[in-house]
This record gives sequence, structure tokens and C-alpha cells, in this order.
Amino acid sequence: MPTSDTHSPTGRPVHVACIMDGNGRWANRRNLPRTEGHTEGEENLARLVRVAVTRNVGWLTVFGFSTENWVRPRGEVRHILGLHKKLFGRVAELNELNVRIQWMGRPFDLPEARTPKYVQRAIRRAIRDTAKNTGMVLTVAFDYGSHAEMVHAAQLAATQGPVDEAAIERNLYLPDLPPVDVLVRTSGELRISNFMLWQSAGSEVYFTERPWPEFDAAELDAALLLVR
Ligand code: FPP
Repeated sequence: MPTSDTHSPTGRPVHVACIMDGNGRWANRRNLPRTEGHTEGEENLARLVRVAVTRNVGWLTVFGFSTENWVRPRGEVRHILGLHKKLFGRVAELNELNVRIQWMGRPFDLPEARTPKYVQRAIRRAIRDTAKNTGMVLTVAFDYGSHAEMVHAAQLAATQGPVDEAAIERNLYLPDLPPVDVLVRTSGELRISNFMLWQSAGSEVYFTERPWPEFDAAELDAALLLVR
């Protein structure tokens, strides 16, 4: 099983990005409300962070909430926002694991940005309180869409000089994020969505039938096998 030698072909620790699909279907199958599926999805993310640390994953990036997800029923959106507050509140666990958390999405000061103030506060606090950690970097994409990110990068780049690949890359939300080595999508959907389209050019893709709440250590290991 992958252990301490999980590295990308270039030798740096591996970057895994996850589209956490299937929370709703996981709940439906159990005759539970969809919100229970999201709650279990958040719990599973917390479990997976622990596993990823033991596999020496360098970067774990997850699609928490997209620019398209705001059209979901209001109660579901509210529930998912609460789960983000909970996740960004897991500072003690993250510090115990030496994990640094960061966020990417539409910058809070843009007119089109939609992250509510209380989630902004949780994000800022967690980033500040885990900033010194030197282990795995957990990036949560919230109010995130790749198209919005690329338009934003292009607009900024155009104010700086010639718009070439390097200029776009410099202006992505998190320019220091390395390229994605393996992109995971759960729950049997064989598609990619509006997620890290720039950063995952050339990455491996791992699809699994399992819904996100059941994406466990064996699944992560199978995804990591693609990049060894
Ligand atoms: C997909 O399930 C998942 C989402 C819409 C994103 C929300 C993700 C979580 C709540 C899990 C991780 C938690 C945090 C806080 C990052 P779906 O509703 O699309 O499932 P379905 O396709 O089966 O309906």
C-alpha cells in the first residue's frame, strides 16, 4: 500500500483533488434526508484527512461548494454552509495532524462573491490558527468555480502586461497550489465539473462508484496507485 513514498512523477508530495459527489444518493438509499448525507460527507472528509496524512499526501483539495450550488433548496444550502463552519472549526484536529488549511473561491470583496460573513470569519480564523503547520495542505474550495477563477485571473493578468500562461498561473486564486496529480470523483459520475480545470491539465483521474461518505482509505490508496 502507498506509504511514505507517495510522490508525483516530479518528486514532490502528491496533490489529490476530490469532487465529493453522492452525499444525496447515500442518504436516499438509507431513507434519510439529503442533509444527513452532507453531514456524513463532512465527517468522512475529516476521516480522510487523517488517512491522507498517513499516506504523506502533500496537498488535498476538495470541492466543498461551487458557484453553481447556490441554486439548491435554501435549507440544504444553509446546512452545507453550517458544515463548512464546522469543518473550518476543526482547528484542534488540524493542529494535531500538522495540517494547514486554506480556502479558494470568489474573493470576498468581489460583488459576485456569495460567502456569508459567518463562513468568512470561520475561514479566516482557521487559516490564521493553522498557518504555522508544515504538513499536508488542505484546501477547501467554497463558492468556487474554475470558470470564474480563470476569468478573474485573465482580468488581473490583463492589467499587468501580456496575457500568457505564466500570467494566468500567477493570478489564479492560489498560485502556489501545485498541479493536481490525481483528480477523484465519487459516486459513479464520469465527468469533471467546473473544478480545477487549469490545475488538473494532465492529471490522472480516479472514478469510483462509491458515494463520498464511503470514500475510505482503500479508495484513497487505489487513487494514489495511479500516480506511483
Ligand atoms: C455532493 O453531493 C456534494 C456537495 C454538493 C458538496 C457538499 C459536500 C459536503 C457537505 C461534504 C464535505 C463537507 C465540507 C464541509 C467540505 P450531492 O448533493 O451532489 O449528492 P447527489 O449527487 O447524490 O445528490
